[in-house]
Amino acid sequence: MKKVQPQEQLDWASEQKRFCVSAMLRAVSATTLVKHRPGLGQTIRPVRGSILASPEMASYDPKPDYFFHWLRDSALVADALREAIEDETLEPSGVEHLVDFVAFSLKLCRLDGPTFLRQGGYPEAVEQSFQQHLRPRAEIGAIVGDKILGEARHNADGGLDVMKWGRPQNDGPALRALAVMRFFALDAFRARAAEAALTLLRYDLDYTLSHWRLPCCDLWEENIGFHYHTRLVQQAALAEGAAFLAAAGDAKRASACAKAASALLAALDSHFDAEDGVYRPRLPEDGLNASALRRLDIAVVLAAIHAGRRAGPHSVTDPKMLATFFALERLFEEEYPINQGRPADRAPALGRYAGDSYFSGGAYYFSTLGAAQFCFLLAQAAAEGEEIAVTKESRAPLAAILQTPAAALPQAGKIGEALAEAALRRGDMYLATVRRFTPASRELSEQFSQLDGAPTSADNLTWSYACFVTALAARQRAAKAMGDARVS
Ligand code: NOJ
Ligand code: NOJ
Repeated sequence: MKKVQPQEQLDWASEQKRFCVSAMLRAVSATTLVKHRPGLGQTIRPVRGSILASPEMASYDPKPDYFFHWLRDSALVADALREAIEDETLEPSGVEHLVDFVAFSLKLCRLDGPTFLRQGGYPEAVEQSFQQHLRPRAEIGAIVGDKILGEARHNADGGLDVMKWGRPQNDGPALRALAVMRFFALDAFRARAAEAALTLLRYDLDYTLSHWRLPCCDLWEENIGFHYHTRLVQQAALAEGAAFLAAAGDAKRASACAKAASALLAALDSHFDAEDGVYRPRLPEDGLNASALRRLDIAVVLAAIHAGRRAGPHSVTDPKMLATFFALERLFEEEYPINQGRPADRAPALGRYAGDSYFSGGAYYFSTLGAAQFCFLLAQAAAEGEEIAVTKESRAPLAAILQTPAAALPQAGKIGEALAEAALRRGDMYLATVRRFTPASRELSEQFSQLDGAPTSADNLTWSYACFVTALAARQRAAKAMGDARVS
């Protein structure tokens, strides 16, 4: 096999990245769009700083209505915008989008249910068929204090979501905290919005501090419990938040964050299922036993990339994380018809979990691009000399990445340089898969059918575009760390 993907694929990827950045921007401050929800008697006019999960006008006909500012999606998109500013795909004035996002997010933190009701936000003219989806008035009235941060999503006009939904979702504030701390690397951002960003950061970290012990709804908006993904992004936000706040002179809050972060690290360890050698995505309150919870879920891999821990437990270099990644590859490789008989230079298309029944049940761009990003982060860590140990758990995945027989790996110990190149190549194989299933229009939906690769679920999912941008940014950093002109 060739050492690096042909230049042609890199050219395609950089064109696609430019497309993704402009497609993301269609969802950011989309103040010229107007969304009508006749069933609810609602008209939504997005305001500045809001980020739509998809700017499409769909209403379950059959495409889903994603015309909302989701906390999770918007944080991931804002992070991708920051990457695009840093690598100059987006002009420096793009910082304004981050400034607006912070201002809008801050307004959302200050909303409350009783005020919303008093101001007549609750829809009165609701069609009969929509009644069943409407949140009771009392539920909205109970959104007081910091409960507002657990709202999974808001209307892009800054109003509360009046639909029944999986709540609270506690990954959003943590993801937003991680994104906002990274904005501070941009001088122009600091000059414009340091104070507002610090206030927002305190809201998000305080919420995370007071909620990390509590069960919540997962990122797939389906189950209540303790989730690996939620916990790992909370852990990262609190650990990074501790350092950030200490530097900002907020010693008391910083030490509370540090304490919670180390407790979360221990909680994360308890997700390891020693029998199958993988991290489980969800624990009930009483530990790992219910068989329904013995699922493999890409949420674990996304957690590693969203949290962005460079090395050590629960990072991309963790042998147990590598084992989970490998098990997910095998799962979707077997499960999805589009993965059968593919050329050797393409990795499998990935989904969320086995038996997913949402639209086509995968494949998903955020899963497949997440895998690419995972490999690039691994390549970077290997190139930078992070310890990547050959253990019982990591032996098979490392052998697969290196394309050598497992027996050829050292009994134990570290493997370094060869892995960097192999992991980069593996990430490129995921990009090749995404390329294969990107339509000529370059538009990315949420899913592409596991049967034939056709776009399914929401069209123009902003998060899909964001994933492409962050995966490529990770590739660039890996290539730089490898100091290898041939791959950059
Ligand atoms: C179930 C899906 O799996 C989930 O991801 C989605 O957001 C909700 N339904 C709401 O439509
Ligand atoms: C469904 C996904 O499961 C969820 O994570 C996401 O927030 C929504 N789609 C909106 O993109």
